[in-house]
Amino acid sequence: MIAAADVLIADSEAALPVRPARGGSGLEGAVAAWAAANDFVGKPGQLLIVPGPAGAPDHALLGVGDAAVDAMAGRALAAKLPVGDWRLEGWEPAEAHGLALSFALGAYRFDRYKAKPAVPPRLVGPEGLDLAAAQAVADACFRVRRMVDTPAADMGPAEIEAEAREVAQAHGASIQVTTGDALLKANYPAVHAVGRAAAPHRAPRLIEMGWNLDAADRPLVALVGKGVAFDSGGLDIKPAAGMRNMKKDMGGAAHVLGLARLIMGAKLPVRLVVLVAAVENAISGDAFRPGDVLKTRKGLTVEVGNTDAEGRLILSDALARAGEHRPDLTLDFATLTGAARVALGPELPPLYTDDEALAADLLAASARVGDPMWRMPLWSGYRSSVEAEIADLRNDSAAWAQAGSVTAALFLQRFAPETGAWAHLDVFAWNPRARPGWPEGGEAQGIRAAFDMLERRYASRAQGLGKGGAAASPGPDSQALSPPPR
Ligand code: BES
Ligand code: MN
Ligand code: ZN
Repeated sequence: MIAAADVLIADSEAALPVRPARGGSGLEGAVAAWAAANDFVGKPGQLLIVPGPAGAPDHALLGVGDAAVDAMAGRALAAKLPVGDWRLEGWEPAEAHGLALSFALGAYRFDRYKAKPAVPPRLVGPEGLDLAAAQAVADACFRVRRMVDTPAADMGPAEIEAEAREVAQAHGASIQVTTGDALLKANYPAVHAVGRAAAPHRAPRLIEMGWNLDAADRPLVALVGKGVAFDSGGLDIKPAAGMRNMKKDMGGAAHVLGLARLIMGAKLPVRLVVLVAAVENAISGDAFRPGDVLKTRKGLTVEVGNTDAEGRLILSDALARAGEHRPDLTLDFATLTGAARVALGPELPPLYTDDEALAADLLAASARVGDPMWRMPLWSGYRSSVEAEIADLRNDSAAWAQAGSVTAALFLQRFAPETGAWAHLDVFAWNPRARPGWPEGGEAQGIRAAFDMLERRYASRAQGLGKGGAAASPGPDSQALSPPPR
């Protein structure tokens, strides 16, 4: 099991340098000949291992184009460098810091079920880098990815709860878990309805964590995550291809636990409430059905048009609970719709919020740290799509074969806290196609941006925020992110 401290290290005697090759020029003599023989022209992301006289690696050259170094350029570096210790030499501090964090992110491997543990290369944290902070960010992302990568058999509602308990324990947060039929008494009817088919052995639960709640003068941040341990679709069962990767449907829960770790680990001066609805959308004699009308915590009733639109049902109760804390800011993460992928593909999660300042801050942070997202509209013209014939709401927006991510967000909006600002991220949480530094499997999307935004909003500026990230930082209203190199 790889931890950030295994790949981003404080020091190493034996570390070989990784130097920039800017525009491909500046190479001389034997190195220039070696570069030519290897078709190395210094394209952004291109890597050349340069041997010494005895043939062993002496140093590496990483191609840098004319533009700023991509914030995530280090991911591919970690995937391509030979195993061993490396250090950065000849880079601007901001470039080096971005490379170091992204190197750590790119070194992730999921080796839980492999006979041999993965051995990635290691990088010495560059001068001026807050090593512990970078490791914390990388570790949070590793944990998100590990939870997502873990098969549903080993990452059920109980294991999601165990992960949450570990987070709470590590940071002195309180935690309360309401499980099974107790959900009915505690008024989480939608969580119960969706998850009851998997009970009793994989019973549904609502996990609530609280941190710093006594500090009444501090702003209250609420994080809400969709934790569907496995989404079979329910009675509206998914076809095989659509079900194959549904172990990742607890991605939202993994994301908020990772983000909570970062917030608490950095001791951000906020109060924090974390809500995770952890269920398995299974099929049994007790499964909820198409056509059923569910009660929700908020009092609104929902006609189930499709049991496969289960995420918004469990989130309705969790968001309503968040609202009872009167938060100043609520962020929810959910692998909510296939339509989000149709709209923007797997690498660019849709962001929904009606709060212009929050949108601007999140998008600016997203560009700064190279953690992409794209704002989509809570288009009021489509509000009627969530209205039902015999209940207050419907969960499937059935007459609407289109804009599925938007209509799902509009459904959540009906349950979002009425205090403060709310944003929803419809994350894919998965790399479907392996690229160097982005292995196929679980991915953390948006939590680095969210954490950067929260730090800038709430941490005192004196605490030193010049952490790694893109050298370039587009204006606050820019969605002009450049894609990571292929
Ligand atoms: N978990 C899925 C959404 C999903 C599917 C995310 C594939 C990522 C990849 C969600 O519960 C779901 O099944 N949504 C349905 C909603 C529909 C029935 C209204 C969808 O997107 O098809
Ligand atoms: Mn579903
Ligand atoms: Zn789902």
